[in-house]
Amino acid sequence: MKFTSICVHELAEKRTTRPHTLPIYATSSFDFENIDQGMDIFSGKEAGHLYSRFANPTVDAVADKITALESYGTGVEAHAYMTSSGMAAISTLMLAVLKTGDKILTQGNLYGGTTELFLKVLAPLGIETVFVNLKDEKAVIEAIQNDPSVKMLYFESLANPSLACVDIARLTDIGHDNGLLVTIDNTFTTPYLLQPFAFGVDFVIHSTTKYINGHGTSTSGIILGKDKALMKEKVFTAMKLTGTNCSPFEAWLTYNGLKTMPLRMCQHSENALRIAETLEQHPSVLKVNYPGLPSHPDHELAKKQLKNGFSGMLSFELKGGLEAGLNFMRKIKFCSLAPTMGDADTLILHPASMSHLRIAREVRLANGITDGLIRLSIGIEDADDILADLLQAMS
Ligand SMILES: Cc1ncc(COP(=O)(O)O)c(C=O)c1O
Repeated sequence: MKFTSICVHELAEKRTTRPHTLPIYATSSFDFENIDQGMDIFSGKEAGHLYSRFANPTVDAVADKITALESYGTGVEAHAYMTSSGMAAISTLMLAVLKTGDKILTQGNLYGGTTELFLKVLAPLGIETVFVNLKDEKAVIEAIQNDPSVKMLYFESLANPSLACVDIARLTDIGHDNGLLVTIDNTFTTPYLLQPFAFGVDFVIHSTTKYINGHGTSTSGIILGKDKALMKEKVFTAMKLTGTNCSPFEAWLTYNGLKTMPLRMCQHSENALRIAETLEQHPSVLKVNYPGLPSHPDHELAKKQLKNGFSGMLSFELKGGLEAGLNFMRKIKFCSLAPTMGDADTLILHPASMSHLRIAREVRLANGITDGLIRLSIGIEDADDILADLLQAMS
């Protein structure tokens, strides 16, 4: 080989033993041994990687691991695809299984980006969304039976910021009795706290950007479905052709974070419960929203559906409205003011002045986002440090 060709060409692989941890396959395509193997892989006769937008060994490893965790002990055999973000997981799934004229049934307290996706992207394509209170069984049944176009029931494991829960098994039964597909966003809870396949849902999606990565180092998502054939045909096709696939580097970061997920979720939950209990007794606090508190309206339902803890997400309402909220946030020192959740450190948000600043006050209030509401993603630090910061900021 000439000098320039040596520069350009791949050399024979030097690897002799297996790497102990998952490598990053930073390659856009894969070589075939010969034309026959190329034909067999392209035709599906032989399993093999072709092109990283379709599949990549690093990305597949993460999808397989999360599939094993979501299916663990449920008897369900699911199949999954990693995506470039949680939003990519939701949009890819909807484009894969719905068509113009179909409708999604959900409620008003979804993650804001999901509501926007439904209203600003899917609605103009003719996939509309019907909003009902999913706790009102009669309203749900009426909404489905009055409109045969409703094809998908969609909800989240814990709502933001009220941390309200819905009855997953009951809603899934209602959905299935009426021929609907049922999807849950399990981002707030992870498979360590909640395994929605055990309740019968068809699809589970995650923003793996959050607790599954757990360190705030990547943006990624996953779609899991228990109808393997549908996943391999429709969902794979939509992911491949819209290019919403996950990058190997983001998948690798997610894979590493995932290793400590059970330990982290225990500590997030333990810290959050202690902080919720303390805040509930504080004279400056009107109300604490945490499903682990007996005072939370959905405590019994949360106890029935969740295991190993109640997650690290909580919100509380300060007496004194906007001014109190702003003053409190100005004094915060230890917790980070960041608009995400599920990282190892404690993140704090004042929705009225940050994430929901552009939302009309009436709309905000109707969704429980009052002027003095503070949202916390409780980290895994020593709870004494988190509490000390919150208490000094309230003093
Ligand atoms: C519950 C929930 N689902 C989905 C998303 C979207 O995830 P991503 O930011 O990874 O696209 C978020 C983002 O905050 C979320 O909180």
